Amino acid sequence: MIITVDGPAGTGKSTVAREVARTLSYAFLDTGALYRAVAYALIVFKINLSNEKAIAEFLDANPLDILTQGQETRYVIAGIDVTPHIRTREASNASSLISTYAVVRSFLLPIQRGFAFHQNIVCEGRDMGTTVFPNAEVKIFLTARPEIRAHRRFLELRGTTSTSFEETQKEMSERDQRDSTRSISPLMQPHDASLIDTSDLSILQVVDRIVALAQAFPHWEHFQHQADIGIRGIGTTIAEAFAQAALALTAVITDPSSVTPKTSITISVSAEDLDALLFDFLNLVIYEMETRHMLFSQFDITVTGSQLRATLTGEPVDTSKHHPAVEVKAATYYELLVCHQSNDSWCAQCVVDV
Ligand code: DC
Repeated sequence: MIITVDGPAGTGKSTVAREVARTLSYAFLDTGALYRAVAYALIVFKINLSNEKAIAEFLDANPLDILTQGQETRYVIAGIDVTPHIRTREASNASSLISTYAVVRSFLLPIQRGFAFHQNIVCEGRDMGTTVFPNAEVKIFLTARPEIRAHRRFLELRGTTSTSFEETQKEMSERDQRDSTRSISPLMQPHDASLIDTSDLSILQVVDRIVALAQAFPHWEHFQHQADIGIRGIGTTIAEAFAQAALALTAVITDPSSVTPKTSITISVSAEDLDALLFDFLNLVIYEMETRHMLFSQFDITVTGSQLRATLTGEPVDTSKHHPAVEVKAATYYELLVCHQSNDSWCAQCVVDV
């Protein structure tokens, strides 16, 4: 799942997004830091910040590396670890300026998208939900009253520079203006984002709202359970939770997005309770995979009482395309649980040994 958090400076984006990532055990990407890292490197190498061509040549020759060690992230460009300097006032102002250049944005685009490859992420910036991840599952846009944002920023800068509150406020409004009016990927609220005004909320309150939105969104996930893997489907209905659980099962074997939905088969199961229904359904999915040598990536399910009907759509296994992690023979399921959660979503989960 991709969760995007966009908004202007001083809305609490970084702190909130980092905490959401920690709570959900997702990876975290602070994209402002990437613009800041590039900006600071350009300053160190005395590249004229108004010369787009010189910037393009510098970026061509110098890749940016993001090194994550536990909770800490370091940014290395042209062999220099610029991390300690990216929060300075000069890096802030330079990053806003260079972020208006197409060459800088196209340099950073694949780096940002690559970060989301094969992992759940929370990312924050200005154009996460509009340009970088337009298909993100959960999009958040944070705002706060301008004087509150300037005050937060002032407190953040205090100690590193001797800027006055008025100066901070002026620089912030110039930066806002530039970030929102630039021609490429300006700062704006994605049409499908949830808007949260953080002016009168604590960090924890904002984090809780985002986590609740993410947890209620239909999705699947894996969790570790001793030597085995846990699969979990979340949905707004039982049927949706079962469909997501089946996708989680497919994901134990291959990346579900590598399976083209071409051929459909229909199955039906009935059982005495929902846990048993999940057990029988997943068993049947594995049985169909094994006997037909197929993988499925689309599950259209209806559940009526203790009856389930599902159309499974997929294609024959192609090892060169799907790179299956295991050969499907049989699976054992235990610790089955189907429940209605406090945020009104349904959860269908179990531990699986394939
Ligand atoms: O979020 P921040 O203050 O660390 O970002 C620094 C600058 O980088 C900001 O003024 C605009 C730019 N930026 C951007 O243009 N797009 C992003 N996704 C993130 C930051």
